Amino acid sequence: MKLKLKLKPALTQKPREMVNKVTTAVRRKVRRRPHGAKPKRKGPPEALVGFGRFVANPRRFGGFVSGPALAAAITAEIDPAAGPVLELGPGTGVFTRALLARGVAEADLILVEADPKLAARLQSAFPQALVLACKAGSVTATMLQGRFAERRPAAVVSGLPLLNFHGDEVESIIAAAFALCAPGAALYQFTYAPRCPVRDHIKARLGLVARRTARVWRNVPPAFVYRIETC
Ligand SMILES: C[S@@+](CC[C@H](N)C(=O)[O-])C[C@H]1O[C@@H](n2cnc3c(N)ncnc32)[C@H](O)[C@@H]1O
Repeated sequence: MKLKLKLKPALTQKPREMVNKVTTAVRRKVRRRPHGAKPKRKGPPEALVGFGRFVANPRRFGGFVSGPALAAAITAEIDPAAGPVLELGPGTGVFTRALLARGVAEADLILVEADPKLAARLQSAFPQALVLACKAGSVTATMLQGRFAERRPAAVVSGLPLLNFHGDEVESIIAAAFALCAPGAALYQFTYAPRCPVRDHIKARLGLVARRTARVWRNVPPAFVYRIETC
């Protein structure tokens, strides 16, 4: 019996043309990222950028760039439908990306970053977010005009190294954050110590309570997440 082999036109093309076709198809598929998938990151890896900023200012940067397990744990209770999210000390954007992966709209993000270089990097990575290049304790409601005037943040995620800060600074940061938020908002804070980094007397003065929501062993170093809210 004689076999008649019908080759598809693509298979009869030269190898170089075929490689080009496959590359274009793959690129198209990668660009069409499904909702909730990891957003694209440009430039050097976060750990490298974080290390550079840590060398520039160790006390302010705090130490380590958080890993994906901590990013998932600190954003786990965020409801994207509840309203905008205020992020304090986003640094290289590890928690920011986790918030986007949870379905928070980029335009619903307010990112407060004191390091001007990191703030500029965040603005180019997340062009629809409101990026404020200033200290977290100095943010006032007038800085959240426009789309955030009516829709106040429903939650706060903090990557600030609070253990490095004086008590007065911690109190002014936490007070300013809750003053910006809608009633009932919760603030999520991570720490490497097994107790809440906002001390009891500060919480009592501000009328706040805290509870631990996660222990994250798969982070370097292992970390804890606290949810802080009004009593
Ligand atoms: C440890 S890094 C955390 C970055 C990221 N969220 C993470 O977990 O990898 C802390 C970030 O907080 C910023 N930061 C420190 N003090 C701040 C302040 N008072 N207001 C706003 N940002 C501050 C630092 O510049 C740094 O980018």
